[in-house]
Amino acid sequence: MTTTRAAIVRGVKEPWEVVHLDLEEPKEREVLIRLAYSGLCQSDRHFQVGDFPATFPLVGGHEGAGIVEKVGSGVTRVAVGDHVVCSFLPVCGVCHWCSTGHQALCDLGLNAGTGHLPDGTFRFHHGSEGLGGVCALGTFSERAVISEYSCVKVDSSLPLDVAALLGCGVPTGWGAAVYASGVRAGDVVVIYGSGGVGSNAVQGAARSGASIVAVVDPVPFKREMAETFGATHTFATHDAAYSFIKQTTWGRLANHAIITVTDHTAEITNQAMSIIGKVGSVVVVATGRHGENQLEMNTQSLKGFQQRIQGVMFGNCNPLADIPRLADQYKRGGILLDELITRRYGLDNINQAFDDLVDGKNIRGVIEHS
Ligand SMILES: NC(=O)c1ccc[n+]([C@@H]2O[C@H](COP(=O)([O-])OP(=O)(O)OC[C@H]3O[C@@H](n4cnc5c(N)ncnc54)[C@H](O)[C@@H]3O)[C@@H](O)[C@H]2O)c1
Ligand SMILES: [Zn+2]
Ligand SMILES: [Zn+2]
Repeated sequence: MTTTRAAIVRGVKEPWEVVHLDLEEPKEREVLIRLAYSGLCQSDRHFQVGDFPATFPLVGGHEGAGIVEKVGSGVTRVAVGDHVVCSFLPVCGVCHWCSTGHQALCDLGLNAGTGHLPDGTFRFHHGSEGLGGVCALGTFSERAVISEYSCVKVDSSLPLDVAALLGCGVPTGWGAAVYASGVRAGDVVVIYGSGGVGSNAVQGAARSGASIVAVVDPVPFKREMAETFGATHTFATHDAAYSFIKQTTWGRLANHAIITVTDHTAEITNQAMSIIGKVGSVVVVATGRHGENQLEMNTQSLKGFQQRIQGVMFGNCNPLADIPRLADQYKRGGILLDELITRRYGLDNINQAFDDLVDGKNIRGVIEHS
């Protein structure tokens, strides 16, 4: 047994609280990891405000990277000293979904909201109470015991701050453009929301050769940064983007729209559907508010124009293959990662970090574990 400092949330809409937790030793196929960095993703806030079903208290954080300190019995994927990215979805490698090329849909992903490890128990403890971590990780903890299935080994020369972002925001956005939308050279792409995820959809679309990568985001700083990541045009509103896309495509409209906003709403679905043309696609990445519907539409154009609307987890990436691949692309200059990190925070400033996320001040804020 060891101890760790971690940011937890005790119930829906409660503030984040930094506490000392006991941490059990890693069991079979588990590893003890010392987290170096954790990104702050909107999905942590969606857990905190009750948009996802969760078991509280819950250790926050699902976008982290660190170094393996101890391994339990039977661990084969990683060894002590390895640098690892924590994939926010575990990959067992052998279930039906893993073995048919859908690693992001691994059956072990079912514990995302309870934080149970694959054997159905917790390793974090507070007195007599057991706690799970978001996505069975809990990267807002200085140390965590996680399944080896959540670990993806990366080269030790990769800086751990950018490595952390490979656990969620980067592959989610990149894959939404490259895999889920299937952007091709010359395509017209519109991205709604250019934060930690959307900025990477911009990069994916631009690097796939899209001729127009249009971003809609109400925050000027996000629009400015979108240009750094490859946006060709940016707009504060859907209406402004729609007028431009309609005019520039001679009425054919966009090939793809990607929804990476803070809170997905039915209004945004309808905006995205209205901006795509024949055989166009709308890819839904963003999370909506609990109790609301995000899809209320007449399907005439969907059918008549052979359009597609597609929900996406982890950008349809396969974490075991795509995390090392994105790390390699970063080293070769094929994707920008350093530019995604706007601000760094100590764990004690976690509530400030979330306030800044909500206020639109960061592309990504990261927690630096001491
Ligand atoms: N499906 C997945 O696998 C997956 C993974 C990670 C995150 N997510 C979800 O993706 C969404 C984005 O996450 P993030 O961490 O990038 O958040 P973020 O806050 O960094 O980015 C969201 C952006 O949307 C912008 N925005 C808000 N309302 C808008 C509107 N009406 N039109 C256009 N832009 C708008 C904000 O200004 C912000 O820049 C969240 O809902 C999150 O839960 C899904
Ligand atoms: Zn995330
Ligand atoms: Zn699996």
